[in-house]
Parts: sequence; C-alpha cells; structure tokens
Amino acid sequence: MRKQIVAGNWKMNKTASETRALLEELQAQLPATSAGVMVAPTFVNLTGAVEQLGGSAIEVVAQNMHFADSGAYTGEISADMLADIGIQTVILGHSERRAYFGEDDALLEKKTAQAISKGMQVIFCFGEELEDRKAGKHFEVVASQLKNALFGLPDTAWGQIILAYEPVWAIGTGETASPEQAQEMHAFIRKIVADAYTPEVADAVTILYGGSVKPGNAAEIFSKPDVDGGLIGGASLNAEDFSAIVAAIG
Ligand code: 13P
Repeated sequence: MRKQIVAGNWKMNKTASETRALLEELQAQLPATSAGVMVAPTFVNLTGAVEQLGGSAIEVVAQNMHFADSGAYTGEISADMLADIGIQTVILGHSERRAYFGEDDALLEKKTAQAISKGMQVIFCFGEELEDRKAGKHFEVVASQLKNALFGLPDTAWGQIILAYEPVWAIGTGETASPEQAQEMHAFIRKIVADAYTPEVADAVTILYGGSVKPGNAAEIFSKPDVDGGLIGGASLNAEDFSAIVAAIG
C-alpha cells in the first residue's frame, strides 16, 4: 500500500513565535492517522520547529534547497545544512518558485538530483497553468515537466520521490480541481511513470494533490484511487482546518 501524506506548505507565513503557537495547536488538535503528516515552515523557523516537535509524528520539511554542496550562493541553503538540523524532506519545484524565481525544469533536475544524492526525500511539485488547461495542453505540460526534471533519475531514486500535482489555476484561488479532474491527472501521471520506469515504481509512488484543498473538499479529493493525500497551502496555517484535512484522509 502506498504511503498517504498530508503536508502543510506554510510558504512565507508565520514568525518564530507564530510558528511555535501553531505547532502547539497542531500537537493538541491533530487526529491520530496512519498518514504521514508534514509541515513546512520558513527556513529561519525550521530549527525551532524540529526542536519543538522532537519525538512527535509530525515531520518538519523545507520549502526549497540549492543544488550545490556549498559555496558562493548568497542567500541559499544547502542539503547538508538541512540534514544537519534534522530535515529529511524538501519541497522542490513549487509553482511560486517557478513563476517568481525563474526556476525551470533544468534547474529542478539539478536540485532534485542533489537532494536524492544526499539521501533526502523530495516533494516534487508541478502542474499546468490555466491557459494550458484551456488549450487542452495540460497532459502534455505535466508530462514534459516530469520528463525534463525527473525521468533521468535511476529507478532506485524513486523511493525518495513524492509527487505533488498542483494545477497553478487552483493555488490560492479558492478554485479546486474537481475530484474527477484530480483523479484523471493522477492516473495519467502514474501511467507516464509506469511507461518511463516500471508499473511497480508507478504503483509505489505517492502522488499528492495541491490547490485550494479545504476541510470541505478534502475527503472527496482524497477518496480518489490515485490521490494519495494533499499539499495544503492556506488551510495549513490554521490548526483547526489542517486537523480537519488530516482527519479527512482517515
Ligand atoms: P492553497 O492550498 O493555498 O491553494 O495552496 C496550495 C499550495 O500551493 C501548496 O503548496
């Protein structure tokens, strides 16, 4: 059975004290679950979050990482720095990194390869823009994002990959892909992974959906057979909402 995951991407939100407070609320409110639960505070709050959550089932993950081991890359953070403070998972390729910081498939291929070689788990984000979907190009766009950044990896790397399909038009807009649209794309993603690798690799990879997941729509989205959980933005900043979303996965 595939691992189910609910991950909160806090983006550029929450100061150190706000991070502490939200984590306290989450520890008090999160329901018991067999799914993995992750939170991704901003870089400066990772150490505090790891210390605060020590021994808890909530995993702290990073929102980004550089591709180099170390060096003259002002403002950047390396895999070793993350590993050293106890971070084992990193989000890469978020649409906001692609749109606002010029991250493209070639850069993401390097970042992913680096994270894999450092033994980290990667939550790899991708998804089409509204104009792609309107033009009927969403499958093509998603296939090329995966092929360009991931399909050079060896089979063995796929144990460290979590995919996160996030249609850009559904992020922060209140507009959610319908459960059927999510399922259709997730099944397509699994098929192209099976074609590029093996059915076993495709069957084992966790594929998350992201984009306006809320307490009111989570259960239906998570009920789809190829949807293995969610990457949650806005609703992950509220303990009650995030707890309800975790409860929806069962
Ligand atoms: P929202 O849940 O706010 O739409 O954000 C989704 C997202 O980008 C998670 O990475």
